[in-house]
Amino acid sequence: VGGVTLVVVDDPADERLAPFRLRERGLEALARHRAPSVPGWFVAEGDLVVERALAAGCRPVAALCRADRPPGVVATLGSVAPDVPVYGAGDQLRRTVTGLGVPLDVVAIFERPSASTLPEVLAGARRLLVVEAVDNPTNLGALVRTAAGLGWGHLILDDSSADPLARRAVRTSMGTVFGVRWARCVDLPALVADLADDDTLTVALTPAADAVDLGTVTELPDRVVLAVGAERAGLTPEVQQASGLRARIPMTAGVDSLNVAAAAAIACFHLGIRPPPGG
Ligand SMILES: C[S@@+](CC[C@H](N)C(=O)[O-])C[C@H]1O[C@@H](n2cnc3c(N)ncnc32)[C@H](O)[C@@H]1O
Repeated sequence: VGGVTLVVVDDPADERLAPFRLRERGLEALARHRAPSVPGWFVAEGDLVVERALAAGCRPVAALCRADRPPGVVATLGSVAPDVPVYGAGDQLRRTVTGLGVPLDVVAIFERPSASTLPEVLAGARRLLVVEAVDNPTNLGALVRTAAGLGWGHLILDDSSADPLARRAVRTSMGTVFGVRWARCVDLPALVADLADDDTLTVALTPAADAVDLGTVTELPDRVVLAVGAERAGLTPEVQQASGLRARIPMTAGVDSLNVAAAAAIACFHLGIRPPPGG
């Protein structure tokens, strides 16, 4: 395939497929506890995500794809990293090995890129998303996709939020995670308080009835920091108190809140910097 030698495997017990036993490694469970998917590695699922990982300069370790019609990205992978093994197998074997109900055309393992530091993420960020205790990787991936798509390409996560490079997070972000800058911070209230200055609006997003209607927030300084919280508990009182403003998205009577990524999408759009038409 495009210069890549496909190593066709037909034994699901083949040792070379060990990195692709995604379920057996308990990646979902590990990700919830913030541990890297596999030390030093992350998993990209599907051709688009693999393509984006390659485009971002991530270094592939191995790939597993359908043997009958390998997707085009396999050729790209081969040209970027000709020595990386690419295994080919049928649907049933890929399903058995990966444990994924729907066997994707390609799954690739990559080395984790080195993390950004907090100062690197903060530098020059005019729109900064602060994420507290969002421990579900699917929600975190959706948040990342929202942030990346709406011009909030800088994220700070507390220690209890999921790993942005967890399998489900990478997949839900559709690979946009490779284009954002993110870092961890152990003390979010202190960070939010420190960021407050004359050119910065810090907003705690909360459905609380005593928060101001987000729609009334129209005067925006150069920098906006938006904090979103956990699915059950919401933002801690400490982060809310450290913020300059508590804002709510008005809800239909009887419905208490939105999913965190849906709420963030509304707020990121409302408080964002609009890109020029066409780009
Ligand atoms: C499911 S909600 C948490 C609900 C929680 N009971 C609370 O009171 O915050 C998860 C996060 O989404 C955001 N959120 C959800 N619905 C919202 C709304 N209507 N207005 C503002 N923020 C909202 C907040 O940042 C919240 O911390």
